[in-house]
Order: sequence, then structure tokens, then C-alpha cells
Amino acid sequence: MGEVVKHILIVGPGAIGGLMAACFANSGFKVDILGKNPRHIAQIRQRGFMINGSTVSSRKFHGIETQVSRLSSPELVFFCTKSYDTTRAVRNAFPLARKAKAVVSLQNGLCHIPILSRAFGRKKMILGVCYIAATRLSPTHIRHVIGHSIQLASHAQNKRLVGEIGAVLTRSGWKVHILPDERRMLWTKLLLNASANPIAALSQYPNDQVAKNPVLRDLLVKTMDEILGIMRRAGIHPVSRLHKKAIVEGMEKSTGQINSMLQDIQAGRPTEADAILLPVLRLAKKQGQKTPLLENLYRFVKGLEK
Ligand SMILES: NC(=O)c1ccc[n+]([C@@H]2O[C@H](COP(=O)([O-])OP(=O)(O)OC[C@H]3O[C@@H](n4cnc5c(N)ncnc54)[C@H](OP(=O)(O)O)[C@@H]3O)[C@@H](O)[C@H]2O)c1
Repeated sequence: MGEVVKHILIVGPGAIGGLMAACFANSGFKVDILGKNPRHIAQIRQRGFMINGSTVSSRKFHGIETQVSRLSSPELVFFCTKSYDTTRAVRNAFPLARKAKAVVSLQNGLCHIPILSRAFGRKKMILGVCYIAATRLSPTHIRHVIGHSIQLASHAQNKRLVGEIGAVLTRSGWKVHILPDERRMLWTKLLLNASANPIAALSQYPNDQVAKNPVLRDLLVKTMDEILGIMRRAGIHPVSRLHKKAIVEGMEKSTGQINSMLQDIQAGRPTEADAILLPVLRLAKKQGQKTPLLENLYRFVKGLEK
């Protein structure tokens, strides 16, 4: 498919979706964009994207719409909405996405997985995670802070497809790793998101400041230990043995990165706390494990949402 993918649909042109759309378009793919808010879509149509000071003209995109009926069939669909918007996004994109060869998600948390699986089946669904930090400063202005790494999970049913999608992403400038263990990939990302995101949201600190502040760094490490304990008991080992250290170091380098949970709180939107923290809390409960830090972080973030 690496050679036959010519046309990609991005569902959700936010920080990650906008970045993906721009990279695919700059690499010569035909890119359609499907969004929700007509005002935001009109702005993207008028101005394109500004990414780290460079303009990506809207002329680079084939279609920029809120209605799928105005777009044509792509071979590849990327779901880039927040987890809590997945059901509506799937409904919105379904007439085209059901005909696509593959549907890819780089969303955080675990709640989007059953929704996408039910809609498209496991065979053509590719789950991935991205170690990218990006902030949407406005509907057309994205700050790509750090990170080019994308992990895709392969399983018996999608092996060839994953390789082909990896080639499309590599051609567009991303560093792609294909992992054989979907659960391990997803939970390793959850380890980062379930610890760092709520602490940043509560402290209102950018990621680098969370990692550099001795009190918050201590809380971060202890929260990761809680999650690692749950993962270990479930037989899930983080992708890298150095992951805890790597997470802290990665955050230290993300200067000024307002993580997406904090972005949501600041914008008065719901957060992805349910998608990110609830799976960990549920597994801990099943194991009969106490998770005082995680429980409180979840409670506080839900309180802030209100
Ligand atoms: N940002 C990061 O650094 C980062 C890093 C790794 C992973 N992620 C994950 O990637 C996912 C996307 O995050 P993000 O930060 O890119 O979010 P975001 O900036 O809030 O963008 C979400 C986009 O989805 C659109 N949308 C919402 N409902 C939709 C629908 N029904 N149909 C079509 N589009 C819809 C939104 O449109 P509107 O314009 O109407 O709001 C917005 O353009 C999340 O799961 C996040 O956790 C983010």
C-alpha cells in the first residue's frame, strides 16, 4: 500500500491531526481534512496551517470540510480527535472510512479502541501511539514542540498493512517503530499519560516544569511506580526498561509543552481523564490494589473539569 496510498483523510485537524495533514500534504499525498466546528474549518480553508513559523497553504489540501459527503474516498483514514469525540467522529467519517483500506488511530487512552473496532473490524484497524508534543494555539496555528516517534502495533491480522502504513509515515518524515505487542505499546504510553497529564493539569505547569520541580517530579515518579506495579501484576512490561527515566528526561526537554489535559482544562473542555486514568484504576481494582495517588489525581481532574 506504501506505493498505492495516494489519498489520506484526516479526521480531527487539531494539534496532531493538523501536523499529520501538513506532513502528508508536504510529502505529496492527496489529503482531505474532516473537522467538526464550521468556524474552525473555515479558518483552515482560508489560512491553512502555521506550524512553528512555517505556513502550510490550504491549497496543499484537497478538501477541508465538516461534511463527509463533500469529500471523496481515501485509501487511508487517520482518527485524530480526542478520545471522547471518537463516537461522533466515527459517525461523521463512516461513509468514507468504511471503504478505506486502513483506519489508523494515534489517540491516547484506551476508550477509542472498542469504538473503532466495532465500526471497522480488527483487520483494517491499526493502533498506534505517538511520542509527539504539539499544542494547538488556534485552529490554524500549531506548535510542534518535540518528537517524531510513532509506534504502530502489528498483530496476526494486520501485519502487511502495518508495514505499508509505516512506509507512508516514514516517507512523511516520521520515525516509525512497529511493535508486535499492542497491549504493551498502549500501556507504555498510558504510563506517561496517566501520570504526567493529570499532574500538569492540576499544577497548570508545562511538562518541562513538572519534571524540573522537585515536588511535582517526586509525585510524577511515585505515580508512575503505582502504575508500573499494576502493569507488572498484569504481566505488561513497558516497552523500554528505562522508561521511567526516559519519560522524565523527555518531559524536561519539552520546553513550554502544555499537555493536552491541561490544554483541555484551560479551554474549558472535557479532558481525556476517563480514557486515560479509568482503565488503570479499573485494572487496579480487579487486582485488589490500592492506588491512592491515581485515585486522587483522577478525582481532582474530574473536579477541575466541572
Ligand atoms: N497534542 C499532543 O501533543 C498529543 C500527543 C500525543 C497524543 N495526542 C493524542 O492525540 C489525540 C488528539 O489530540 P490533539 O491534541 O490533537 O487534540 P485537539 O488539538 O483538541 O484536536 C482535536 C480535533 O478533533 C476535532 N474533532 C472533534 N470532534 C470531531 C468530529 N466529530 N469530527 C471531526 N473532527 C472532530 C476538533 O475539532 P474542533 O476544531 O471543532 O475542536 C479538533 O480539530 C488525543 O487522543 C491526544 O491525547 C496528543
